[in-house]
Amino acid sequence: MSEILKLENINYSYIDGGYERQILKDLSYTFEEGKFYTILGPSGSGKTTLLSIIAGLDSAKSGEIYFKGTNVNESGVFQYRRNGISIVFQQYNLISYLTAVENVLLAMSETDNELPKDRKNVAYNLLERFGIVKTKADRLVTQLSGGEQQRVAIARALSTNVDLIFADEPTGNLDTATEKEIIDIFKSLAHEYGKTIIVVTHSDAVSEMSDQRVLLKDGILEKL
Ligand SMILES: Nc1ncnc2c1ncn2[C@@H]1O[C@H](COP(=O)(O)OP(=O)(O)O)[C@@H](O)[C@H]1O
Ligand SMILES: [Mg+2]
Repeated sequence: MSEILKLENINYSYIDGGYERQILKDLSYTFEEGKFYTILGPSGSGKTTLLSIIAGLDSAKSGEIYFKGTNVNESGVFQYRRNGISIVFQQYNLISYLTAVENVLLAMSETDNELPKDRKNVAYNLLERFGIVKTKADRLVTQLSGGEQQRVAIARALSTNVDLIFADEPTGNLDTATEKEIIDIFKSLAHEYGKTIIVVTHSDAVSEMSDQRVLLKDGILEKL
């Protein structure tokens, strides 16, 4: 399998009451294409911080990130965020005054990646693939259940045609049955569509379904 994301000696610290607290310490790890990863670790261990850094939303104090062999700092973080990756959030982060399909179309307008011509059809089909039929796709997202909103968020993440998807506690607000459905979706994205999925979670049920469990502890990542 080929490598898609390589982290090299990532350091991150902040000053807390006059003391420097180091959250990530020379963290290195390589993620392979087409795999479903979960990152585990106690609350406050730095999982969200790590995800923010590797998704280009925050920057490390030092260290390098290579995406498909290219240093993200050299190719540009903006470019990486816009065309390389997608993020799925615990709170879904959909635009509340838009319908489900409009949320997906908005994301599609914010990438330079090559997309099919008939975007509207593609968006409806993508939503339908995750159980959001046309009548639901045409509703404001606030009129959908939590599980449905997360499906819309996943469809949106895929709509820009990226290979790498991050998610931070994506099932944190969902019941157990819906959690399982969402995780099944992530699994199939990795295994049937070759996407790389990196999910931060504290749920054993979620991590048990992943291809590789990785623990964030004492500032580094280790395979479980
Ligand atoms: N810039 C910062 N200033 C102050 N505290 C921070 C900063 N960045 C992270 N933290 C703290 O670092 C810890 C790790 O945070 P986080 O990444 O959210 O952990 P997790 O997601 O594993 O629960 C938390 O206690 C958080 O409040
Ligand atoms: Mg967190």
